[in-house]
Amino acid sequence: MKRVAILLSGGGSNMMALAQSMTGDHPARPCLVLSNDPKAGGLVRARALGIETAAIDHRAYPDRPAFEAAVQARLQHSSPDIIALAGFMRILTAGFTGAWAGRMINIHPSLLPKYRGLHTHARAIDAGDAQAGCSVHEVTAELDDGPILGQARVPVLPGDTADDLAARVLVQEHRLYPAVLRRFAAGDRTRLDLPPVVGID
Ligand code: GAR
Repeated sequence: MKRVAILLSGGGSNMMALAQSMTGDHPARPCLVLSNDPKAGGLVRARALGIETAAIDHRAYPDRPAFEAAVQARLQHSSPDIIALAGFMRILTAGFTGAWAGRMINIHPSLLPKYRGLHTHARAIDAGDAQAGCSVHEVTAELDDGPILGQARVPVLPGDTADDLAARVLVQEHRLYPAVLRRFAAGDRTRLDLPPVVGID
Protein backbone atom coordinates (compact mmCIF):
# COMPACT_ATOMS: atom_id res chain seq x y z
CA MET A 1 0.00 0.00 0.00
CA LYS A 2 1.42 3.39 -1.03
CA ARG A 3 1.41 6.25 1.47
CA VAL A 4 0.32 9.68 0.23
CA ALA A 5 1.07 13.04 1.86
CA ILE A 6 -1.16 15.87 0.67
CA LEU A 7 0.12 19.46 0.85
CA LEU A 8 -2.34 22.36 0.78
CA SER A 9 -2.75 26.02 1.65
CA GLY A 10 -6.51 26.54 1.56
CA GLY A 11 -9.91 24.96 1.88
CA GLY A 12 -8.82 21.56 0.73
CA SER A 13 -11.64 20.49 -1.57
CA ASN A 14 -9.13 18.61 -3.74
CA MET A 15 -7.60 17.03 -0.63
CA MET A 16 -11.11 15.82 0.31
CA ALA A 17 -11.65 14.34 -3.13
CA LEU A 18 -8.27 12.57 -2.96
CA ALA A 19 -8.62 11.36 0.61
CA GLN A 20 -12.15 10.04 0.11
CA SER A 21 -11.08 8.16 -3.01
CA MET A 22 -8.37 6.21 -1.16
CA THR A 23 -10.49 3.34 0.15
CA GLY A 24 -11.20 -0.26 -0.77
CA ASP A 25 -8.91 -1.65 -3.45
CA HIS A 26 -7.22 1.71 -4.07
CA PRO A 27 -3.45 1.17 -4.01
CA ALA A 28 -2.81 4.13 -1.66
CA ARG A 29 -3.90 5.68 1.62
CA PRO A 30 -3.42 9.20 2.99
CA CYS A 31 -0.71 9.37 5.67
CA LEU A 32 -0.50 13.13 6.28
CA VAL A 33 -2.07 16.46 5.32
CA LEU A 34 0.41 19.29 5.70
CA SER A 35 -0.18 23.02 5.28
CA ASN A 36 2.05 26.08 5.26
CA ASP A 37 -0.93 27.97 6.73
CA PRO A 38 -1.94 26.91 10.25
CA LYS A 39 -5.40 28.41 9.59
CA ALA A 40 -6.05 26.46 6.38
CA GLY A 41 -9.56 25.02 6.35
CA GLY A 42 -8.16 21.89 4.77
CA LEU A 43 -6.44 20.95 8.05
CA VAL A 44 -9.77 20.95 9.90
CA ARG A 45 -11.40 18.89 7.17
CA ALA A 46 -8.51 16.39 7.18
CA ARG A 47 -8.71 15.94 10.94
CA ALA A 48 -12.45 15.31 10.62
CA LEU A 49 -11.57 12.43 8.27
CA GLY A 50 -9.14 11.09 10.87
CA ILE A 51 -6.02 11.96 8.88
CA GLU A 52 -2.88 13.11 10.67
CA THR A 53 -2.15 16.80 10.02
CA ALA A 54 0.77 19.18 10.38
CA ALA A 55 1.13 22.95 9.99
CA ILE A 56 4.50 24.46 9.12
CA ASP A 57 4.08 28.20 8.86
CA HIS A 58 6.42 29.50 6.15
CA ARG A 59 6.45 32.93 7.83
CA ALA A 60 8.39 31.44 10.75
CA TYR A 61 11.41 30.67 8.53
CA PRO A 62 14.03 33.09 7.19
CA ASP A 63 13.99 31.74 3.63
CA ARG A 64 12.55 29.11 1.33
CA PRO A 65 15.25 26.44 1.94
CA ALA A 66 14.79 26.71 5.72
CA PHE A 67 11.02 26.33 5.35
CA GLU A 68 11.44 23.39 3.01
CA ALA A 69 13.91 21.68 5.37
CA ALA A 70 11.22 21.78 8.07
CA VAL A 71 8.62 20.42 5.66
CA GLN A 72 11.03 17.69 4.58
CA ALA A 73 11.72 16.65 8.17
CA ARG A 74 7.99 16.42 8.90
CA LEU A 75 7.36 14.47 5.73
CA GLN A 76 10.11 12.00 6.56
CA HIS A 77 8.39 11.36 9.88
CA SER A 78 5.31 10.10 7.95
CA SER A 79 7.31 8.21 5.28
CA PRO A 80 5.17 9.03 2.25
CA ASP A 81 5.77 7.33 -1.09
CA ILE A 82 3.91 10.06 -2.99
CA ILE A 83 3.41 13.79 -2.42
CA ALA A 84 0.20 15.27 -3.84
CA LEU A 85 0.09 19.07 -3.98
CA ALA A 86 -3.55 20.18 -3.70
CA GLY A 87 -3.73 23.96 -3.74
CA PHE A 88 -0.30 24.30 -2.12
CA MET A 89 0.55 27.92 -2.89
CA ARG A 90 4.29 28.01 -2.16
CA ILE A 91 6.83 27.88 -4.96
CA LEU A 92 9.22 24.98 -4.36
CA THR A 93 12.98 25.12 -4.90
CA ALA A 94 14.85 22.75 -7.19
CA GLY A 95 16.30 21.12 -4.07
CA PHE A 96 12.85 20.11 -2.86
CA THR A 97 11.42 19.10 -6.23
CA GLY A 98 14.61 17.12 -6.95
CA ALA A 99 14.29 15.21 -3.68
CA TRP A 100 10.79 14.05 -4.72
CA ALA A 101 11.38 13.70 -8.46
CA GLY A 102 8.98 11.19 -9.99
CA ARG A 103 7.04 10.97 -6.72
CA MET A 104 5.34 14.39 -6.52
CA ILE A 105 2.25 15.48 -8.46
CA ASN A 106 0.22 18.70 -8.61
CA ILE A 107 -3.14 19.89 -9.88
CA HIS A 108 -3.20 23.18 -11.75
CA PRO A 109 -6.37 24.99 -12.85
CA SER A 110 -5.55 25.44 -16.54
CA LEU A 111 -4.96 23.40 -19.65
CA LEU A 112 -1.18 23.35 -19.38
CA PRO A 113 1.06 24.44 -21.02
CA LYS A 114 -1.30 27.43 -21.10
CA TYR A 115 -1.41 29.74 -18.08
CA ARG A 116 1.22 28.59 -15.64
CA GLY A 117 1.16 30.50 -12.37
CA LEU A 118 -1.78 32.50 -11.02
CA HIS A 119 -5.10 33.98 -12.27
CA THR A 120 -5.54 31.18 -14.78
CA HIS A 121 -9.31 31.61 -15.22
CA ALA A 122 -9.21 35.36 -15.83
CA ARG A 123 -6.40 34.82 -18.33
CA ALA A 124 -8.40 32.17 -20.23
CA ILE A 125 -11.44 34.48 -20.38
CA ASP A 126 -9.36 37.50 -21.43
CA ALA A 127 -7.76 35.44 -24.21
CA GLY A 128 -11.20 34.50 -25.56
CA ASP A 129 -10.52 30.77 -25.11
CA ALA A 130 -13.47 28.50 -25.93
CA GLN A 131 -12.28 25.89 -23.43
CA ALA A 132 -10.61 25.86 -20.04
CA GLY A 133 -9.83 23.08 -17.62
CA CYS A 134 -7.34 21.54 -15.27
CA SER A 135 -4.17 19.50 -15.48
CA VAL A 136 -2.42 17.05 -13.18
CA HIS A 137 1.32 16.92 -13.76
CA GLU A 138 4.51 15.64 -12.22
CA VAL A 139 6.31 18.37 -10.31
CA THR A 140 9.71 19.42 -11.64
CA ALA A 141 11.96 22.39 -10.88
CA GLU A 142 10.12 24.65 -13.37
CA LEU A 143 6.76 26.01 -12.16
CA ASP A 144 3.74 24.06 -13.52
CA ASP A 145 5.94 22.47 -16.17
CA GLY A 146 6.37 18.73 -15.47
CA PRO A 147 5.03 15.87 -17.61
CA ILE A 148 1.24 16.06 -17.89
CA LEU A 149 -0.53 13.03 -16.39
CA GLY A 150 -4.08 14.07 -17.21
CA GLN A 151 -6.45 16.86 -18.19
CA ALA A 152 -10.16 17.63 -18.02
CA ARG A 153 -11.90 20.31 -20.08
CA VAL A 154 -14.92 22.57 -19.66
CA PRO A 155 -16.45 25.12 -22.00
CA VAL A 156 -15.96 28.83 -21.34
CA LEU A 157 -19.49 30.23 -21.56
CA PRO A 158 -20.54 33.71 -22.69
CA GLY A 159 -20.58 36.12 -19.74
CA ASP A 160 -18.46 33.85 -17.50
CA THR A 161 -16.64 35.59 -14.67
CA ALA A 162 -13.38 34.11 -13.38
CA ASP A 163 -15.33 32.79 -10.39
CA ASP A 164 -17.93 31.11 -12.63
CA LEU A 165 -15.20 29.42 -14.58
CA ALA A 166 -13.23 28.46 -11.45
CA ALA A 167 -16.31 26.73 -10.02
CA ARG A 168 -16.90 24.81 -13.26
CA VAL A 169 -13.25 23.75 -13.44
CA LEU A 170 -13.16 22.76 -9.74
CA VAL A 171 -15.88 20.14 -10.34
CA GLN A 172 -13.57 18.60 -12.94
CA GLU A 173 -10.54 18.84 -10.62
CA HIS A 174 -12.41 16.62 -8.19
CA ARG A 175 -12.95 14.02 -10.95
CA LEU A 176 -9.50 14.23 -12.50
CA TYR A 177 -7.16 14.30 -9.51
CA PRO A 178 -8.43 11.11 -7.79
CA ALA A 179 -8.44 9.28 -11.14
CA VAL A 180 -4.85 10.29 -11.89
CA LEU A 181 -3.61 9.61 -8.35
CA ARG A 182 -5.04 6.11 -8.47
CA ARG A 183 -3.18 5.36 -11.71
CA PHE A 184 0.01 7.05 -10.50
CA ALA A 185 0.00 5.04 -7.26
CA ALA A 186 -0.34 1.87 -9.35
CA GLY A 187 2.72 2.91 -11.38
CA ASP A 188 0.77 4.02 -14.48
CA ARG A 189 2.10 7.32 -15.82
CA THR A 190 0.25 7.26 -19.13
CA ARG A 191 -1.84 10.33 -19.77
CA LEU A 192 -5.54 10.40 -18.84
CA ASP A 193 -7.81 12.80 -20.70
CA LEU A 194 -11.26 12.73 -19.15
CA PRO A 195 -14.19 12.91 -21.51
CA PRO A 196 -16.45 15.90 -20.84
CA VAL A 197 -19.52 15.11 -18.76
CA VAL A 198 -22.66 15.65 -20.82
CA GLY A 199 -25.13 17.97 -19.12
CA ILE A 200 -22.76 19.18 -16.39
CA ASP A 201 -23.09 22.79 -17.44
C1 GAR B 1 -7.58 24.50 -6.88
O1 GAR B 1 -8.37 25.10 -7.88
C2 GAR B 1 -6.22 24.15 -7.44
O2 GAR B 1 -6.24 23.74 -8.77
C3 GAR B 1 -5.50 25.45 -7.29
O3 GAR B 1 -5.90 25.94 -6.04
C4 GAR B 1 -7.25 25.48 -5.78
C5 GAR B 1 -7.27 24.85 -4.41
O4 GAR B 1 -8.58 24.56 -4.03
N1 GAR B 1 -4.09 25.29 -7.34
C6 GAR B 1 -3.25 26.20 -7.82
O5 GAR B 1 -3.62 27.27 -8.25
C7 GAR B 1 -1.80 25.80 -7.78
N2 GAR B 1 -1.01 26.68 -8.55
P1 GAR B 1 -8.88 23.52 -2.86
O6 GAR B 1 -8.09 23.99 -1.63
O7 GAR B 1 -10.36 23.64 -2.63
O8 GAR B 1 -8.46 22.17 -3.32
